[in-house]
Amino acid sequence: MAESLFIPETNVREEIYKYILPQIEVLFSSETDLIANLANISAALKQAFGFYWVGFYLDNNAGELVLGPFQGPIACTRIRYDRGVCGHCFSTKATVLVPDVDQFPGHIACSSASKSEIVLPVFNAKKEIIGVLDIDSDVLDDFSEVDKVWLEKLLESFANRY
Ligand code: SME
Repeated sequence: MAESLFIPETNVREEIYKYILPQIEVLFSSETDLIANLANISAALKQAFGFYWVGFYLDNNAGELVLGPFQGPIACTRIRYDRGVCGHCFSTKATVLVPDVDQFPGHIACSSASKSEIVLPVFNAKKEIIGVLDIDSDVLDDFSEVDKVWLEKLLESFANRY
């Protein structure tokens, strides 16, 4: 297993995704444990981009998403399927880009420092949704189609593992 992540010295986000994606794939291709893999994915994304908060909420199959592996400040532990950006993403099974969290009805503010957010569905190999990946930024309008495309690519590759 690779023990360090090579991050190119550039601010061009697409270039960074291009470099780190294969490295993250190596990490989860050699490990079968779900929690270990989600922990390393959170750490790699946090390390590569310095996002304010990166983490997973996992379906408890009882109406709620429960906090999983993450990097960043402490966060709310349970989110109902019908609440927040995470619940919306989970219910619609589609990526949600939120340029300004104050404009998203029902947004759950785990921290007032969070200004924009992207939440993506996480599937297993049977295409069943198992949770969401939530990334928060302390900068307004920090996420774009570039993040959506690359993070979906990462999660698709990850899904094929399970
Ligand atoms: N903002 C999310 C809650 C999770 S925290 O951002 C870590 C939401 O509205 O679902």
